[in-house]
Amino acid sequence: MEIKVITGDIKAIEAGAVVVSCYEEQESLEADTAAIDTVLGGAISQLIEKGEIKGKLNEITVIHSLGRMPASKVVVVGLGKKEDLTIDRIRGASAEVCRLLQQKRIDSVAMTALGISTAGIVAAGSAQAITEGALLGTYTFRKHITKEAEHGEIKGLDIVTGDEKEVVSLEQGCSKGRILAEATGLARDMVNEPSNFMTPADMAETATGLAGTYGFEVNIIEREQMKKLGMGALLGVAQGSQQPPKFIVLNYKGSESGEVDIALIGKAITFDSGGISIKPSSGMEEMKDDMSGGAAVITAMSAIAQLRPAINVMALIPATENLPSGGALKPGDVLTAMGGKTIEIISTDAEGRLALADALGYAREQNVKRMVDVATLTGAMQVALGDICTGAFANNQELADRVISAGAEAGERIWQMPMYDDYKELNKSDVADIKNVGGRYAGSITAAQFLAEFAGDVPWVHLDIAGTAMVDKPKDYLTKGATGVPVRTLVNLVMSLAES
Ligand code: BES
Ligand code: ZN
Ligand code: ZN
Repeated sequence: MEIKVITGDIKAIEAGAVVVSCYEEQESLEADTAAIDTVLGGAISQLIEKGEIKGKLNEITVIHSLGRMPASKVVVVGLGKKEDLTIDRIRGASAEVCRLLQQKRIDSVAMTALGISTAGIVAAGSAQAITEGALLGTYTFRKHITKEAEHGEIKGLDIVTGDEKEVVSLEQGCSKGRILAEATGLARDMVNEPSNFMTPADMAETATGLAGTYGFEVNIIEREQMKKLGMGALLGVAQGSQQPPKFIVLNYKGSESGEVDIALIGKAITFDSGGISIKPSSGMEEMKDDMSGGAAVITAMSAIAQLRPAINVMALIPATENLPSGGALKPGDVLTAMGGKTIEIISTDAEGRLALADALGYAREQNVKRMVDVATLTGAMQVALGDICTGAFANNQELADRVISAGAEAGERIWQMPMYDDYKELNKSDVADIKNVGGRYAGSITAAQFLAEFAGDVPWVHLDIAGTAMVDKPKDYLTKGATGVPVRTLVNLVMSLAES
């Protein structure tokens, strides 16, 4: 979809559909909406009078222009109460409208800069939200479907303004929105891809491709070198699989200093069968998404490299399958993680924390200043928060606050969970330094406390995206399947660190 900013008169634009907005309980129409209403002989105000248009959030009304203007259809989208309007609501409204027009096989759309007459919403923010909404809301993954799609494709979206002075900011918003949405779309592609098409080697190849395109460093650590580094925990998970594990290291250098300002770490289990502690077969196909954290971190790096913040960012992605075999890891086994801590395996299905233990250990050896890990870590997280928000766990409140506000800016909700020391007790082992399962209760927190042991005293936040990595029905700019959460949060976080 080509998205551009044009100056002109909305009622004179040639397009398959023209999109204007209205608010709930509004005294008078927005300027663009009023202009179109006049051309349509008062059709919009009549529909409002009759109560057919209420202006409720994401209410969509399609009116045929019947030759009264160049565009054949007018779409009126409700934005809810004006005082409740947020950037995320604009993102969602743009997505809902574009998805409907895509279904109606309309290929060119002109839209006013939604919401800019509202206090607190600036042109760049509106254009960014429209762009993200349009691209993310019309996302599809049809790579393995041979039948042609029933829906069409919006080829062009014009954001229309009558004010020349707004063009530059609208364009800036548009271009940032595209970078963020494309990175998110790439993450969705990687996650939606079945595990036979997204092995650890495929992840390494994708990361290498992006590094070449956007100009950041890539280094793939193979099994032999993992052994030398002492990555016994990751290797333990990998030993049941025929696919060689890959430890992917990416480096974006935006500052002269030798220091790594932040390490982004992503769990990348390309398929989690549970291993010898095998999962029930029903729903197991969903475990192709167990590399969502890794995908988010890789594609966030591609956006970061395009936005060029003046800091250094390292991304670490421990990638492996978790499968049972004659050579697989077994409950009761003891592994030694990088840095020397020993781990008693209670369940081979608690494999994510093993892979992450070595990644956190690696990050610490690189003397990184802070780290954020992202993982589909626990089913308990899904039980606790559903698919509505991501859980955050931290050993440093300042970093946690930054991550949470970077999420709010992206419309990716994050809820912080408690990390009382009492939870640590539950991970105590009789045969090793720590065990990989802390019992039935508070499963997300004991998993986070396990990671905290390996994070040590480096400021660290852990995001458990087990509930938010996938959704089972479309909503606003999320489409069914992979969400690409939290790519935009990570990018916002890095940008905010660079500005501080
Ligand atoms: N990948 C799963 C967690 C998961 C569950 C992600 C559901 C997305 C949806 C993780 O590796 C796992 O299996 N965790 C176990 C831990 C348990 C054995 C302590 C779980 O949550 O059941
Ligand atoms: Zn598991
Ligand atoms: Zn897992």
